[in-house]
Amino acid sequence: MSPANAAPVGAARTALEARPTDALSGCAKVPGDKSISHRALLFSALAVGESRVSGLLEGEDVLATAAALRALGVEVTRADGGEWHIWGCGLGGLREPDRVLDMGNSGTAARLLMGLLAGHPLHTVMTGDASLCSRPMARVVEPLSRMGASFRGRQGQRLPMSILGRAELLPLHYELPVASAQVKSAILLAGLSAPGETCVIEPQATRDHSENMLRHFGAALSVDRRDDGSRCITLTGQPELRPRTLAVPGDPSSAAFPLVAAAVLPGSELRLEAVGLNPLRTGLITCLEEMGANIEIENRRDLGGESVGDLVVRGGSLQGITVPAERAPSMIDEYPILAVAAACAKGRSHFPGLSELRVKESDRLAAMAQGLAACGLEVEEGRDSLTIDGAGGRPAGGATIASRLDHRIAMSFLVLGLAARLPVAVDDASVIETSFPDFRALMAGLGANFAALA
Ligand code: S3P
Repeated sequence: MSPANAAPVGAARTALEARPTDALSGCAKVPGDKSISHRALLFSALAVGESRVSGLLEGEDVLATAAALRALGVEVTRADGGEWHIWGCGLGGLREPDRVLDMGNSGTAARLLMGLLAGHPLHTVMTGDASLCSRPMARVVEPLSRMGASFRGRQGQRLPMSILGRAELLPLHYELPVASAQVKSAILLAGLSAPGETCVIEPQATRDHSENMLRHFGAALSVDRRDDGSRCITLTGQPELRPRTLAVPGDPSSAAFPLVAAAVLPGSELRLEAVGLNPLRTGLITCLEEMGANIEIENRRDLGGESVGDLVVRGGSLQGITVPAERAPSMIDEYPILAVAAACAKGRSHFPGLSELRVKESDRLAAMAQGLAACGLEVEEGRDSLTIDGAGGRPAGGATIASRLDHRIAMSFLVLGLAARLPVAVDDASVIETSFPDFRALMAGLGANFAALA
């Protein structure tokens, strides 16, 4: 079955072990950006006519968005060369699905689609895997309800959830209570179906791919940046979105794994090509540079309105750091792998302001603290912070870590296994399929020593 027709069913569980590896070298291209891929499909579905997307991430999360759009009447296909074609039906043109929409493991797919469905007069039921069904949805239900849509979820507004949208919503003026690009984007997607101006104020800037793409598709959107760092995004509703041709850059959140692996393994030299460098996504690179990593950015260019470049990283020894809490939104998905860098660094690292990590695919604060402790590190798990005393070289390792249905936990501990004295295994590497289907092959091609366990 081609990926275009594949339903998001999780692959069989596979345990994978990472063994101590000397150095990584070579050149690689990481898969397409997950955030941009979801948005490319969703906004294309709302334009009138055919959009074309190259470089789309073909991971389970994005395939869940594609499958849901098909169930809503949008034609989504993948051509032989890998380009995706989406025949958008225009704002208001979705049809009621005859089955439950399964968003798999993807919070972005679920929350953004809730925003889109709020502005359609349809009844839909949405579910997901055990991880997604445990994640808080009230953060999107609350503003979307104020706009006029109705939701009925399990206790605490969790999936499975029934959604009743309306053809025309009320415009909203909303200040985000949490720094969340998913909540911001859900409101903007709903705002497309509201007459007049919908305004989202974010106290801390989060990834702005929705804003960039809405403009690219022809919507009128303005961003007012204030001196205190907050941003006010104003969207004029009921635009006619025009179909587009899009190219998706490499995902900096996926590049993070080979990047950190090479940075902590002395003697490594790696080039990662065409990685997205949107300034609201590059907090990890800033941190690694502060830790003393040798990273060069070459060939910086524009790819469809997003900045990209080639990252060249050379391995060496790192120093522990304190990461300012304000940096969290620009690297929110990178804390698990930064914690691995901190585990190999010399001295103490401290990461404050991490309450959002508790509601990701797993409780990532607890997962990292417990997993690093099992690998022999001194770690302190605060209510919303993590403190790690680095090994100043190879940590002990020698543990099997539960993946907890969380791709980034699995990949982070596999990277730790390459840099440890003893192997580190994860009990289920199949979860990596959600965001980085070629992770194992790509890393092995650079010299990583991985072995499947029976
Ligand atoms: C994403 C936003 C972030 C991030 C997630 C992708 C997006 O979530 O963790 O992986 O594409 O908008 P929050 O909005 O919950 O911070």
